[in-house]
This record gives sequence, C-alpha cells and structure tokens, in this order.
Amino acid sequence: MRIGVLTAGGDCPGLNAVIRSVVHRAVAGHNDEVIGFEDGFKGLLDGHYRPLDLNAVSGILARGGTILGSARLERDRLREAAENCAELTAKYGIDVLIPIGGEGTLTAARMLSDAGMPVVGVPKTIDNDINGTDRTFGFDTAVGVATEAIDRLKTTAESHQRVMVVEVMGRHAGWIALESGMAGGAHGICLPERPFEIDSLVKMVEERFARGKKFAVVCVAEGARPAEGTMPYEKGIIDQFGHERFTGIGTRLAVELEARLGKEARPVILGHVQRGGTPTAYDRVLATRFGWHAVEAAHAGQFGKMTALRGTSIEMVPLAEGVSELKTVPEGRMYEAESVF
Ligand code: F6P
Repeated sequence: MRIGVLTAGGDCPGLNAVIRSVVHRAVAGHNDEVIGFEDGFKGLLDGHYRPLDLNAVSGILARGGTILGSARLERDRLREAAENCAELTAKYGIDVLIPIGGEGTLTAARMLSDAGMPVVGVPKTIDNDINGTDRTFGFDTAVGVATEAIDRLKTTAESHQRVMVVEVMGRHAGWIALESGMAGGAHGICLPERPFEIDSLVKMVEERFARGKKFAVVCVAEGARPAEGTMPYEKGIIDQFGHERFTGIGTRLAVELEARLGKEARPVILGHVQRGGTPTAYDRVLATRFGWHAVEAAHAGQFGKMTALRGTSIEMVPLAEGVSELKTVPEGRMYEAESVF
C-alpha cells in the first residue's frame, strides 16, 4: 500500500509522534510506502512531498511541531482539491490519505472522502474540542504549560498583592481554561461557553482579601466574553479565515478588575507557548496509538473515518461525526470546577 500523510491547521505537540507511528506501522508492519506532503493540503495540491522511511522519522517522537510543516488553506483551494481528488490520488499513486488535523482539516478530509478519495483522519488540537473522541493529543501538554504558568503566577501575585489574569487558548471551547484552572487552583475561571459575570469576579476577589488572602488568579479562555452590557468590550479582528482574533479579553478583564477593585491587576497572555515544545508522555502515547490505528484502518478499508479515543480504547468513528459539532464544556463539568464565573 502507498500512504500519503499530511499535517494541517494549527500545529500541536504530538504531530511528529503520529507521523512516526504511521511510518513505523506502515513500513515495518506492512511493508508499505509512505510519502509526506509538506505544509498540509498545499503540498498535496502543489506537488510538494517527500518519501518517509524509518530513518526520516528517527528521533522525532519527542519533538514539538511537525517535520512536514502545517498551514491553513483557503476554502477555494480545498474545493479545488475535492474537484481534482481522483487526479490527485492517481498522480501520487496513493491508496489512502491520512490527514492529521483539527476541525478545519477534518472537514476538508470529509470533503475529499465524499468526493471519492480514500481517507483516514487523525484528530488533533490542543483545544480538545473535536467531537467523537474523548481526548485529542496536544491537550495534555497545553494544560500542563498553562497549569505551570498559574502556579508561577500565584507566587508573584502574592508578593505584590495583585490579581493576575492569565489568558489561555480556546476560542470556542474552554477545556484548557477549565482543566488548567482546576489543576492550578485558579480562583476564577472564565469560559467561552458561559458569559462571565464581572460583578461576581469582583466579589470573589474582595472576599479573598477580606479573609486575609491578598492575591487572586483568574484563568480566562481567549474566547470568553462578559455577560452583555456588564463591562466595556469590543469584538476582535476577523482574519482571512473568518476567525475572530486578538480580542484581548485577558487585558480587558485585568483593566476592569483593577478599576473596580482599586488593586493592581496584570494580564498574562500565554498564546502559542501552549502549543510549542515537547509533548507530554500522555500525548506521545495517544498520538502513537492514533497513528498505529490509522494505518490498520487503512488496511481494513475503513475510509471516511477518523481515529478516536473512547474510554481507554481507540475506535474508528465517521469523519461526519467528528465535524458535526464542536465538543464544548458541558454545564456539569463547570459545576465540578466550582470557580467558573
Ligand atoms: O485550534 C488551536 C488553536 O491553538 C486555538 O486555541 C487558537 O485560538 C488558534 O489555534 C490560534 O491559531 P493561530 O496559530 O492561527 O494563531
């Protein structure tokens, strides 16, 4: 079998572990050939690819980023790929394409699959918001980075009697904010799923100070929004892919808390630090299992599906299920965290 693999969308710790696992299972396990397309679907469309053998993936398991490069692709070019999928499959002589990516990539994978290309998807995102899988690799690493940041911010906050507002990634789903906030013991957590109440946040900090605790840490997801009309807030910039960016919610919230509390507040925006660097052991294992199962699914002819963690098992679920909706934080999980505002 000849397998094409690519990584698309935002990068994520664990991508290299998947690539390595695909090559190992395919080459060593099945005597397959693997080629890797560069910079996501662009490589597929523009003919940029290279053969991947065991030596090509040696030493990449622990490396962050992706050796293949990654990029987001405009809708028009994706349509171009779908329209030409028979030619593309024949041109590269591939029996299956394994795209590794988030919601956008899996939507593109589904388009190609519907157009007749044999596709097996592998879900990835630090946001953990892909439907159909209990977890995505990259999430554990991101939560670890954010948790360490909260731990560190607590000591400096206490020294200066400040409120620290740490903004973490998560445009539509607040999983990173929820779990790093819980793990780091943030006093306030704000999620995109529920507009937050600034009055309640202010009250929480005042109560802490009143009982002698002279600092507070608030963990806010980049996509969190204040309840309508409760504090000044402007929308961010809409980028070329239609995503709202640079909303600056962490900074706005810090400014607002400082004004209302009469105490110093500082914003800290973690940004892409959460996506860089080496994956945790958990993410390496999940990524490796996804890669292994993707190759097995290809050999079993299970096209139009993606790997998914269900409980402790890896299962194949339809791409349609993976992209049907985003997996956001349910109310029940917010109550468990106690400090969600
Ligand atoms: O989807 C992963 C993610 O890291 C989001 O949490 C974040 O909003 C977005 O990607 C950032 O994208 P970019 O790398 O294009 O700035």
